[in-house]
Amino acid sequence: MLPFIRKDLAELTAYTPHPGGTSGEPAHSESAIDRLDTNECPYELPEEFKKKLAWTYQQLIETNRYPDGGHAALKEAIAQYVNESITIPALNKGGLGAESIPVPPLNKGGLGGVTLPKTAITADNISVGNGSDELIRSILIATCLGGSGSILVANPTFSMYGIIAQTLGIPVVSVQRKEENFEIDIEAAKRDLAQNQNPPVRAVFVVHPNSPTANALTIDEIEWLSTLPEEILVVIDEAYFEFSQNTLADQLHHHPNWIILRTFSKAFRLASMRVGYAIAHPELTATLEKIRLPYNLPSFSQTAAEFALAQRQLLLATIPETLSERAKLIAALTQHQKLQVWPSAANFVYLRLKAGEGESAEQGHQQIMQQLKEGGTLIRHTGGGLRITVGSPEENQRTVDRIGEIFDNS
Ligand SMILES: Cc1ncc(COP(=O)(O)O)c(C=O)c1O
Repeated sequence: MLPFIRKDLAELTAYTPHPGGTSGEPAHSESAIDRLDTNECPYELPEEFKKKLAWTYQQLIETNRYPDGGHAALKEAIAQYVNESITIPALNKGGLGAESIPVPPLNKGGLGGVTLPKTAITADNISVGNGSDELIRSILIATCLGGSGSILVANPTFSMYGIIAQTLGIPVVSVQRKEENFEIDIEAAKRDLAQNQNPPVRAVFVVHPNSPTANALTIDEIEWLSTLPEEILVVIDEAYFEFSQNTLADQLHHHPNWIILRTFSKAFRLASMRVGYAIAHPELTATLEKIRLPYNLPSFSQTAAEFALAQRQLLLATIPETLSERAKLIAALTQHQKLQVWPSAANFVYLRLKAGEGESAEQGHQQIMQQLKEGGTLIRHTGGGLRITVGSPEENQRTVDRIGEIFDNS
C-alpha cells in the first residue's frame, strides 16, 4: 500500500458495481444478461423522450458552459412533485395497489386548482445531488466529520451509508433487524444511542422501504424516529417511493431534524444520469449546498430530470406492471419449499434459504447467485440473503425458470 494513503482505507471493501463488478468483465455482452441486481427499471426511456432530450442537447445545451450550479428550474419542479405526494390524499394514504397511479399533470401554475398549505415544500427545501449517493456523503460531512459524530444503521440495509462513512473516517454503529420481519430492534437502537457517546450518534439512516429487505417503516419505527432528539439527524431514504407510494414528506414540517432522500435512478428510469434529491429544513439544505461541489450536476442530467418530471405520467406508467410482476414473482418463488420469500413494498424481492438447510445458508446463497449468473441472470447476494429486482415479464419468467432448474438439480 502506498505509504501516504490512510491505513483504514486498506481494510475498506468498495461497493461493487455491476456488471461483472467483481470479475472485471467488460460491459458489452450485457444485452444477453438480465440485470436484476441494482433495482433499476427494466425499460429504457420512450423513444420520443430520448429524441426530445437529444434535440435539446444539440440545440440548447451549451457544452462549453458550466451547468446551472444552483439547479433552480429542477428544484422548482421537484418541489411541485413532492407537494403532490403530500397534498393529494389518494397518493398518501396506505399506498396504492397495482391498478392505478393517478399522477396529475405538472402544470406551470401549480397543482391544477389544489391550494398548497403553508407547510408546502418549496425550492428552499430541496437540494439536488449527483445521485442520492452524493447527498449521503454531504450529510455525513455536515453531521459527523472530524470526530464530531457517528452514524447508526439497522442491518441489513443499503451498504453505501456504511461504506461512505468509512471513507470519511466516521464510525458506524450497527443494530440488527428482527429475523422474521426485518423490523428494527428499537430497544437495541435506544441502548446503542445511549451508550455511544464518544463520538455520539449524530445521524440515523433508515430506508423506507428498506433495501435489501423491501419492508416499509412500521408505525412503531416511525414513532421511535419521531422521539429522537434534535441533535440527531434522521435520514429517511425514499429511493423506492414511487413503488411504495408511502412517504413521510408530509411530516417533515414537524421535524427539522428529518431529511428525506429520493432518486431519479429507479422508477424514473434515469440511473445513468445520476440525479438524486433531498427534502429538508432550509437550513439543512443550505448546508448541503455549501458542501457539494459547485457544478455537481451536468446540464444534460438536469434537463433529463426536468423532462422526466414533466412527463412523469408517461414514465411512471410502467409501475403497475412492476407491481403485478412482483406479486407473480413472489408467488412463484414461494412455491419452493427451501426458500423463504418476504413481502415487498418496492421493485425487488428478498429471499433466503430457510433455516435448517445447514449452517451453510450463505454458501447456498452464493451458489444460487453464481448459478444464476452463469445462466444469464444477475442478482445481489447481500445482508445474508438474495435480492432480486423485478424486471420485465420475460426477465422474471427466466428468473423463475432458472431458479426452478437450480432446485430441480439440487
Ligand atoms: C436505498 C438506496 N438509496 C440510494 C441509492 C442510490 O441512488 P442514486 O442512484 O441516486 O445514487 C440506492 C441505489 O440502489 C438505494 O437502494
